[in-house]
Amino acid sequence: MSVHPSPERPATTDAPARPRRPVGTLDVRAAKGARRIAMLTAYDAPTAALVDACDIDIILVGDSLGMVMLGRDDTLSVTVDEMVHHCRAVTGSVSRALVVADMPFLSYETGPADALRNAGRLFREGGVRAVKLEGAGPCLPQIRALVDAGIPVMGHIGLTPQRVAQLGGFRVQGKTADAARRLLDDALALEQAGCFSVVLECVPSPVAARITAALTIPTIGIGAGPDCDGQVLVLHDMLGLQERMVPRFVKRYANLAGQVTAAVTAYKEEVENGAFPGPEHGFAMPDEELRQLDADGNDAGKE
Ligand code: KIV
Repeated sequence: MSVHPSPERPATTDAPARPRRPVGTLDVRAAKGARRIAMLTAYDAPTAALVDACDIDIILVGDSLGMVMLGRDDTLSVTVDEMVHHCRAVTGSVSRALVVADMPFLSYETGPADALRNAGRLFREGGVRAVKLEGAGPCLPQIRALVDAGIPVMGHIGLTPQRVAQLGGFRVQGKTADAARRLLDDALALEQAGCFSVVLECVPSPVAARITAALTIPTIGIGAGPDCDGQVLVLHDMLGLQERMVPRFVKRYANLAGQVTAAVTAYKEEVENGAFPGPEHGFAMPDEELRQLDADGNDAGKE
């Protein structure tokens, strides 16, 4: 690999303010070298609105929703219909962030025509303004077809969860010089095919740094170290909203599962001991109406 990471990374404190107008793919490209890009997943209206209000640049409706929202073991069974359903919820409540949808497993691998039809659904029915798909080599014709049709594409290489069976599990990718060189070649091919950015998942930090330095489009890292142009995390992981195994690259910024458990337990206890609801949670009725009601009630059945 002949490229080297640039020694200087832009300091986030000196970075220009993020625009309040809607973020487009050109803004994402322009951020490279100017400021770091923050991306998070969201899958429903209320959380997407909260994330958007924090000026997160990109909201990903990831196929991770299969595991995070639907309780499945992996992402492979997620359908285009399910993605459309969640994309509509997200795009309906987001006013600034660029909303990107994952193309689910087997919705694009089968060729450009399928890729166009399915990405078209995510665009037109789901309301997203870009799609992400996993892999490079065999997917390049699909990516070119989407870009030619005006659908911006985010690439995704490294650990690609849709290929977990081939990869032999959720493992760090690109750990040998040969594997790292292949990743760099894939990243360059994705840029060449027209991707506006590329996710690097579970890649050694020095490899991600070299790929980032070699590309003119931004890299968004997840488990790929500090030298990517941006970072992405699964919202539920960083909020500590679920107890399932969380990868070591996740930083937990909150423990919402603990807060939810405490709140639900307190509610259950108060329902059982009668402390909830209190008078402030009920509705009054005019005294006169109440007297009338009781009088009518007392008279009921008398003729
Ligand atoms: O589906 C997803 O959430 C993703 C991110 C982990 C990048 O692809």
